[in-house]
Amino acid sequence: MDRDLSPDMQPDAEEIGDELSLRPSTLDEYVGQKALLSNLRVFIEAARQRNEALDHVLFAGPPGLGKTTLAHVIAREMGVQIKATSGPVLERGGDLAAIVSNLDEGDVLFIDEIHRLNRTVQEVLYPAMEDYEIDIVLGAGPAARALKFTLPPFTLVGATTREGLLSSPFRARFGYVAVLDFYTADELAAIVRRSAGLLEVPIVDEAALELAKRSRGTPRIANRLLRRVRDFAQVEGDGSIDTEVVASSLKRLDVDRAGLDKMDRRLLTTLVERFAGGPVGIEALAAAVGEERDTLEDVYEPYLVQQGYIVRSRQGRLAGSLAYQHLGIRTPPGKTGQLF
Ligand SMILES: Nc1ncnc2c1ncn2[C@@H]1O[C@H](COP(=O)(O)OP(=O)(O)O)[C@@H](O)[C@H]1O
Ligand SMILES: [Mg+2]
Repeated sequence: MDRDLSPDMQPDAEEIGDELSLRPSTLDEYVGQKALLSNLRVFIEAARQRNEALDHVLFAGPPGLGKTTLAHVIAREMGVQIKATSGPVLERGGDLAAIVSNLDEGDVLFIDEIHRLNRTVQEVLYPAMEDYEIDIVLGAGPAARALKFTLPPFTLVGATTREGLLSSPFRARFGYVAVLDFYTADELAAIVRRSAGLLEVPIVDEAALELAKRSRGTPRIANRLLRRVRDFAQVEGDGSIDTEVVASSLKRLDVDRAGLDKMDRRLLTTLVERFAGGPVGIEALAAAVGEERDTLEDVYEPYLVQQGYIVRSRQGRLAGSLAYQHLGIRTPPGKTGQLF
């Protein structure tokens, strides 16, 4: 899947290249998520005063909201190193043992997509989290040998787009579980202005706000759109960004006034026209739009649900009144919408 504007599961190459310049590295530079941040500030300060490792932290929320960024911010604020890996990469206990054996006292171990850790690795992780102990058997049969060692106190920072897939004993081992929210337009506008400054592209305030409003509440999308608009401004304009450039660029990128892109609209149209507004099961909806169920649930749905375009019910997905409104169709009598 290659959607210019999608809040993809993984950052793209462009973002990684710009990471150093665009990614906030301290708590003060991090915009939004106020409640989460003020808690985190206290926990970091307290751990620092006690000269201890910060307790394990879990960040949950849709892609592109700043989970990976927070893991790096924590390491930076604690003045420690960060070792990053991800759930699907850690196949065996030995893979985890290899990475944790390189941790120094207080270091951050960042595990992205932590809901995708398999059972075996989870079982090696539990005692490592609780007692800083690694206890595994390497190999099999007569050649098998036990490996046991103690780790320095460290901080596990986990990130997940699917908090619900973590078992409760696993979740309970984190000292702090935080769910990231979508950003407000004002917060995103601040992020856009900051990024534009770092990219050295002039942007007027209204243009930053307009871009922010069309970024699906997501910093990653805001930054991605900013880069594309910058391209249009550079090649076809005078290099600076005003509301006109934003409007014309986003039109060419197929991002509508509400910030929805082709796939978002296809989802809504399918729900309303083909399934008569639902309720329809997620599998049927995924098949109808030709997208993976997981991608629908992790990437597209959260924002559409939060905004009220789609309503989740026991019976399946329903079109919210905003979906009818957006598509310019009158909500049929007896259909969902207004109820929610
Ligand atoms: N609070 C924030 N303030 C400024 N920029 C942010 C913030 N959160 C995320 N970003 C930007 O969005 C991009 C995506 O964030 P990231 O931490 O990779 O999201 P996630 O790990 O949740 O998918 C980052 O590269 C960063 O530039
Ligand atoms: Mg990430």
